[in-house]
Amino acid sequence: MEANCPHLGADMSHADIEECDTGVIAVSFSDPPPAKVVSIIPEVAAPTIPREPEPVVPTANPPKTLMDWAVLILNTPDPILKVERTRHAVDLFFTGKLPSVGNKSSNAPKPPDVPLREESFAKNTVDPAKVKSRKNRAVMLHALANIEQWAIDLAWDIMARFGPRHPDIPRAFFSDFAKMALDEAKHFSLLTSRLKAISPSTPYGSMPVHASLWESATVTSDSFRSRLAIIHLVHEARGLDVNPATIERFKKAGDTDTVSVLEVIHADEVTHVTSGHRWFTWICAQEGRNPVTSFRDEVKRCWRGDVKGPFNEEARERAGLTQEYYTDLRGEMGLHDPSEGSKVEKVVCSNSKGLSEGLADLKIEYVP
Ligand SMILES: [Fe+2]
Ligand SMILES: [Fe+2]
Repeated sequence: MEANCPHLGADMSHADIEECDTGVIAVSFSDPPPAKVVSIIPEVAAPTIPREPEPVVPTANPPKTLMDWAVLILNTPDPILKVERTRHAVDLFFTGKLPSVGNKSSNAPKPPDVPLREESFAKNTVDPAKVKSRKNRAVMLHALANIEQWAIDLAWDIMARFGPRHPDIPRAFFSDFAKMALDEAKHFSLLTSRLKAISPSTPYGSMPVHASLWESATVTSDSFRSRLAIIHLVHEARGLDVNPATIERFKKAGDTDTVSVLEVIHADEVTHVTSGHRWFTWICAQEGRNPVTSFRDEVKRCWRGDVKGPFNEEARERAGLTQEYYTDLRGEMGLHDPSEGSKVEKVVCSNSKGLSEGLADLKIEYVP
């Protein structure tokens, strides 16, 4: 899949961020346009049906293993509760209070095809190309927070989906990705805090978002190698390329607090690409494959269009991604067999509206 959505931190692979004539920041979507419409978050309104807050640890059937927690978190629609559960589960795991990973069990729970999102957050859809006309720092922060929410799910999904398929994978795999889930939860919290600080009238949930990152998760749901290659070594590596320019633009705007946040995120994201590379080379070694040629094969099969530069070669190399991996690389997904890309069509929430309906429903107030 081609880059097509705004993104930051490591996961900011799909968008270019441009300085506009007005001096503000814009997120622009690269061509070719996305294969599918994406989710949009409408203006947040008070819930019509009062609900008891859900506890971090469910009272019925509390999770007993890391796999249980992973699937519970993937099935948690509320982003705040998702963050709280991530913090709690990772703390249990790293402090030895959750001794069992649970991936060797034949009863390991199955992850959902697409993580749940609250209906009010997912009911509209919009072509992400339309988003590019909305230009300011709040828009950028909102878009980045959305990606971090998906990134939390991606870290849990790779553990829940592929851990049971590789029962002999070392425990270090779960440590790496649990730490990644915790980082992404931190990034989400930091970005939503900055959004609230600079634009109280547009809290998280009030602007259009997209689900493009999960398209790549769906395309790679059958292969551990593909998942690591596309999500962690294409999408997250692209984040390393674009982060410095993003940071620079917030610097120019004098927003030093957001600059500090973005610098933390960038440092974390180098470690995420490192983890992706570590486990990609691990699985290649298990299967007697060359990691470089395997990576290039995966990109050709599961990606559409060029792997875009300019590249942050220094940050990529620190993560283990040398130039031979990505130079002159183009994805051919769907070129030879259009059905190869058909999985993407399943990504959009089943209750989503059509594109024009979604656009008509947009009520967004931006702070200049
Ligand atoms: Fe990341
Ligand atoms: Fe992140």
